[in-house]
Amino acid sequence: MGIAVHEQTGVFHLYNEKISYIMKRMANGQMGQLYYGRRLRDREDFPHLVELAHRDMAPCTFDGDTTFSLEHLKQEYPAFGSGDMRYPAYELERENGSRISYFRYRSFEIYQGKRGLMGLPAVYTEQAEEAWTLELYLEDEVIHTGLTLVYTIFEELPVIIRSARFEHHGQEKLWLNRAMSLSLDLPDCQYEMVELTGAWCRERYVEAQKLHHGIQSIHSMRGHSSHQFNPFLALKRKETDEFQGEVIGVSLVYSGNFLGQVEVDTMNTTRLTMGIHPQGFRWPLQRGEVFQTPEAVMVYSTEGMNGMSQVYHRLYRRRLARGYWRDRERPILINNWEATYMDFNQEKILTIAKKAKELGIELFVLDDGWFGRRNDDTSSLGDWYPNLDKLPDGIAGLAENIVAMGMRFGLWFEPEMISRRSNLYEAHPEWVLGSTDRPICAGRHQYVLDFSRDEVVQYIGDMIAKILDGGLVSYIKWDMNRSISDLFSAGMDAEYQGTVYHRQILGVYKLYERLTTQFPQVLFESCASGGARFDPGILHYAPQGWASDDTDGVERIRIQYGTTYVYPVSSIGSHVSAIPNHQTHRNVPLETRAVVAYFGTFGYELDLNLLSGEEQQQVAEQIRFMKQHRAFLHSGTFYRLLSPFEGNEAAWMVVSEDRKKAIVAYFRILQPANAGFSRLKLTGLVPELDYTIDDRDYTCYGDELMQVGLILSDAASGVRTSPVPQGDYLARMFVVEAK
Ligand code: GLA
Repeated sequence: MGIAVHEQTGVFHLYNEKISYIMKRMANGQMGQLYYGRRLRDREDFPHLVELAHRDMAPCTFDGDTTFSLEHLKQEYPAFGSGDMRYPAYELERENGSRISYFRYRSFEIYQGKRGLMGLPAVYTEQAEEAWTLELYLEDEVIHTGLTLVYTIFEELPVIIRSARFEHHGQEKLWLNRAMSLSLDLPDCQYEMVELTGAWCRERYVEAQKLHHGIQSIHSMRGHSSHQFNPFLALKRKETDEFQGEVIGVSLVYSGNFLGQVEVDTMNTTRLTMGIHPQGFRWPLQRGEVFQTPEAVMVYSTEGMNGMSQVYHRLYRRRLARGYWRDRERPILINNWEATYMDFNQEKILTIAKKAKELGIELFVLDDGWFGRRNDDTSSLGDWYPNLDKLPDGIAGLAENIVAMGMRFGLWFEPEMISRRSNLYEAHPEWVLGSTDRPICAGRHQYVLDFSRDEVVQYIGDMIAKILDGGLVSYIKWDMNRSISDLFSAGMDAEYQGTVYHRQILGVYKLYERLTTQFPQVLFESCASGGARFDPGILHYAPQGWASDDTDGVERIRIQYGTTYVYPVSSIGSHVSAIPNHQTHRNVPLETRAVVAYFGTFGYELDLNLLSGEEQQQVAEQIRFMKQHRAFLHSGTFYRLLSPFEGNEAAWMVVSEDRKKAIVAYFRILQPANAGFSRLKLTGLVPELDYTIDDRDYTCYGDELMQVGLILSDAASGVRTSPVPQGDYLARMFVVEAK
């Protein structure tokens, strides 16, 4: 692994065993993109990879040379106004209104490891040898501004991480109107674009479309990464499936507005850009100021979508997520939200907690409704002190009771929000985001606090810290239940307004950083109306996130399947809830609800007292199962086997590092009449090892399980490895272990 620099020819080649990423200083001083893909041998120069073409009509950089047109050249970080007619990576505006700029290569720096980004979440190394970083320093000498393009390559993973940093040294004032984290020009357009899309209660559905000429994009302009589109997209070949084929994934480590855009020009090249959404973004740069973009993580895989996902899982689980809980077994929790909503008192809570403890649960989480005068969603956000009518002994009293039972205690907060009916609003109406001379949109009767202002972040942080100081709260569910509209920071000048979206999310990161530092052993779970902020940025602070408000077992198969495209099983908040399900009114068997939830952090979200004795036994058994297998389920290699988006079945499996153990989950949504034969081919096992499947009295070799498969047919014909019972919404688990 390393970074080869050929100063003479201006070639920079980042490589490891799997991939190569090659750039070259072009004749005009800008950086050109030559190659990104499977590893290539290094050489002094790759002049043949520079595709110059004679084009009379194109704007050309050098008068008389009709071949050097940026419109046709593949570039690293393209500029507006340079003759490139595609969307640029950035746009800088000068005092005189000019938006033309040229950054020319000046110097480079290489170091082992990876540096953090000020105020922003970022992938890190634990040992410097894990990665190399290349910083390319470019300059626009007319405006005296520097641009640093940063590239990190990991030794063991086909990963390149990119970001950009602007540094202004000149006298005049500048505005950054666009500053993407990366731009990548690819030499053809024979790709399908894969995205994770959805809405509240159906987040991260997988969709793929063939690229077409023009723009195709995903985005959020909601102030959070959103239910609608996850900050991730992949370009895959038509023939790429879960197991084989070429794919490039790009994932943005950011939780605010983003744009992921793919532009196919009519010369059939593809430009992929991702970064902060330019809408509403206008960042002033004075002399001495720096703007750092968030980083984007590119994964190149020839092993299909599973290959790509496994790389993200490895990187994000152990080099993006941090802290005390990163590698620890996560507590099995019970959350009272769907059990009581806001209608509870101390006694009711203790009754639920007592039964939970009896069945083996380790953490009790008190959700919304414990503070201020909160009995419904019209009041009290911002008043983070206990409602003594409901909880006469306060949070401390309740928590003491629960801790005395032998469980941990956790609490729900929504730090970025304020209700009009609250003491906080009475004291600080000016802290609401929005313009005071117009009505401001309410969302769930609530408003957004101006987290671009330090004093607001500090004040809310102090209130939360006061509750955590007692040491009885060991988990926080950090919610965020509405999109940001009415973007305006009252009392601040015009210049400031273009920075508010980004500052708002920097404020969120700042508070997370403060609380995770001050209370390092508290487990944070992120949430935003379910899965509206399930993104890599938040994962840096909260190692798990509530994947969706939809707890229906069948819906969860789809939601969690899509989520695993990027996010590790250990990060996916998943609970068993009551039936009929509160979101879909569907009656999914208890076993199926649990099987889906095992492939996540696992917990319950119902009053277990309301289950029959038999069901309670089943729950106790599920908890025992999860305690036994959770470390493995969270750290093993995850494979998707059958997609719920393609048919009536779904399946996935986790395989241990030594490939001697696997746990397989198979789901069949509707019971077919007179079902045909069916087999489930496994993967990732050792062909010559002999495996037992649960407690059956025969064994199968790895090659049999992978080439023949588990026989799922109901009818007994020959060897039945795994009969699936009759009925709708069925799930089966198989524990496969080498003898
Ligand atoms: C959001 C969350 C839920 C619950 C409610 C409480 O919708 O996603 O899990 O916490 O808020 O109001």
